[in-house]
Amino acid sequence: MAGLTNTLRLGALDQALSASSELRNHAPRRDHRLPRSQRVMVRAAAEGPDLSVTVNGLKLPNPFVIGSGPPGTNYTVMKRAFDEGWGGVIAKTVSLDSSKVVNVTPRYARLKASALSGKKPEVIGWENIELISDRPFETMLAEMKQLKEEYPDRILIASIMEEYNRDAWEEIIERVEETGVDAFEVNFSCPHGMPERKMGMAMGQDCSVLDEVCGWINAKATIPVWAKMTPNITDITQPARVALNAGCEGVAAINTITSVMGINLDTLRPEPCVEGYVLV
Ligand SMILES: Cc1cc2nc3c(=O)[nH]c(=O)nc-3n(C[C@H](O)[C@H](O)[C@H](O)COP(=O)(O)O)c2cc1C
Repeated sequence: MAGLTNTLRLGALDQALSASSELRNHAPRRDHRLPRSQRVMVRAAAEGPDLSVTVNGLKLPNPFVIGSGPPGTNYTVMKRAFDEGWGGVIAKTVSLDSSKVVNVTPRYARLKASALSGKKPEVIGWENIELISDRPFETMLAEMKQLKEEYPDRILIASIMEEYNRDAWEEIIERVEETGVDAFEVNFSCPHGMPERKMGMAMGQDCSVLDEVCGWINAKATIPVWAKMTPNITDITQPARVALNAGCEGVAAINTITSVMGINLDTLRPEPCVEGYVLV
């Protein structure tokens, strides 16, 4: 029965496709001889299906959105994403003072199957320890502004992260909004996010701090705000509820899952390890 249905559908699609090529050849009157359902297929074949969605008032041409990270590092890669058809891009997370962000190389740890089975090395897992953007804030602002001017129909979301300081949050929101971005994703989830500065995951794991900071953010922002959650917590619904109750339009799930990729048998430290510190 399923085969028969598929054959019938394919037959209808064939008919629709051949009619659509006539449509493209400027013979629209013939379209009216087709039933309505086939006319929809004709239009889809001629113009492409309509995948547009509206989320929190943001009209995306399609529901495919690139998460914050390397594909949102700079103008060139974000432009490339839009040229390839992505409906939205969430830029790499920015903070006011990028000079405090010092990335290391390499910043990926690999888990190899051979360590478990003794077979030929095969990578079966990755962990990243990349920090937020280490590019100057002003440069990122200029590039987000340029992208919005060149791609007004695409959704560009700025990812922001700051310290436990109301003035800093208000400043970053005001300056980023001036670029014309469509929404904010607030990074309450970066696991390498300078816990001594109570940023990122350290903030997203503390419901009372989260509540206060979301209150500051939502009192200031005039565009939609999504709170990006960390999975590294016993019950993710608790901070998610806090963020929503404090006025965020949405939550984004999830940021990086922390893990240990191996043990260095010389130092007996878990890997990856940077200057004696390990992400767990
Ligand atoms: C190299 C790398 C850099 C990332 N940088 C950011 C970032 O700056 N801000 C952010 O919110 N998430 C960042 N992420 C997290 C991703 O956006 C995503 O939430 C995470 O990788 C989990 O999704 P996945 O399982 O599809 O990889 C980064 C991830 C990777 C691998």
